[in-house]
Amino acid sequence: MQTTIAAPKKAPAVEADFLPLQGTDYIEFYVGNARQAAHFYKTAFGFQSLAYSGPETGTKDRASYAICQNKLTFVLTTPIRPNNPIADHIAKHGDGVKAIALKVEDATSAWNETTKRGGKSFMKPTTLTDDDGELVMSGIHTYGEVVHLFIERENYNGVFMPGFRKWESVYNPPEAGLLYCDHCVGNVGWNQMNPWVKFYEDVMGFRNILSFDDKDISTEYSALMSKVMSNGNGFVKFPINEPAEGKKKSQVEEYLEFYNGEGVQHVAIATKDIVKTVTDLQKRGVEFLNIPSTYYDTLPDRVGHIDEDFEPLKRLGILVDRDDEGYLLQIFTKPVEDRPTLFFEIIQRKGAKSFGKGNFKALFEALEKEQEARGNL
Ligand code: FE2
Repeated sequence: MQTTIAAPKKAPAVEADFLPLQGTDYIEFYVGNARQAAHFYKTAFGFQSLAYSGPETGTKDRASYAICQNKLTFVLTTPIRPNNPIADHIAKHGDGVKAIALKVEDATSAWNETTKRGGKSFMKPTTLTDDDGELVMSGIHTYGEVVHLFIERENYNGVFMPGFRKWESVYNPPEAGLLYCDHCVGNVGWNQMNPWVKFYEDVMGFRNILSFDDKDISTEYSALMSKVMSNGNGFVKFPINEPAEGKKKSQVEEYLEFYNGEGVQHVAIATKDIVKTVTDLQKRGVEFLNIPSTYYDTLPDRVGHIDEDFEPLKRLGILVDRDDEGYLLQIFTKPVEDRPTLFFEIIQRKGAKSFGKGNFKALFEALEKEQEARGNL
């Protein structure tokens, strides 16, 4: 009789994450007037003054205002002279996201690992120092003119980063309950979604966790396709959209035309009380997409029991969707600049890890109404 000895069970091969990310460090916008933009984000969205950099701090070509709310930091940067890359960026795109900065333990390793895998360098590892310590940053290019910066700030104790000083303001509107960046969506050109999915897989070690084709995301008139990329621990999620053929122009095409290329479509911000946050934001003048009231007729049947009352959701235009793990509530602002480009999403997750697939149709019909009013459908 033959005896076979089972080979000792091997632990499943877990590939080490070559790009461990601790989350989003900050998002930098290039804007036409950073001082006014900072005032808008403080007034409308409840951001707090954090730090300032400009001629007074030794930065000669630009002014930057860092503002924050809980774990969310925005940097608003404007050129103060013509004929430089920031001014060119604004002339081409209008206001928009330039950098999605990611928090890492080791910015040098992040740059080495990503550039070794084909990432195009934007900034070699650079150590910035001041009296509060040192901060290492590096960066690579992604779609359009957007870059990912890697920020290592373990040895830095200052208010934001070297080159900035604390920004103290007498104008400090209260916060609006915005907590952190949930996800950041990129719009890319025709047939460019899969190449960028591959970029996030190969260069940054992300995984494709969800895919939506044009059948999932289409209305009578227009369509788009989307794939959601996530890093290993799920702290950083980047859905990538591309336009799809429809009877009329896709919202992604409208974006690409007015942004003059690929770029960030929306930044989704988490809250733990969406009714309170959205009530507050509306009072402060933030404009949201109008959802047809018929959406709410079938909502209780579609999502079942939820903790919130349906009435305030309907009044505010908040959307609800359920998946296997729970549900989520979400709402989308209108574009925050005159070009129909960047907008924001406010999202509250109650177990659900998805992105509101059940809301796509209602949402895109609302978007098309706006597109039509602009004469771009
Ligand atoms: Fe989103």
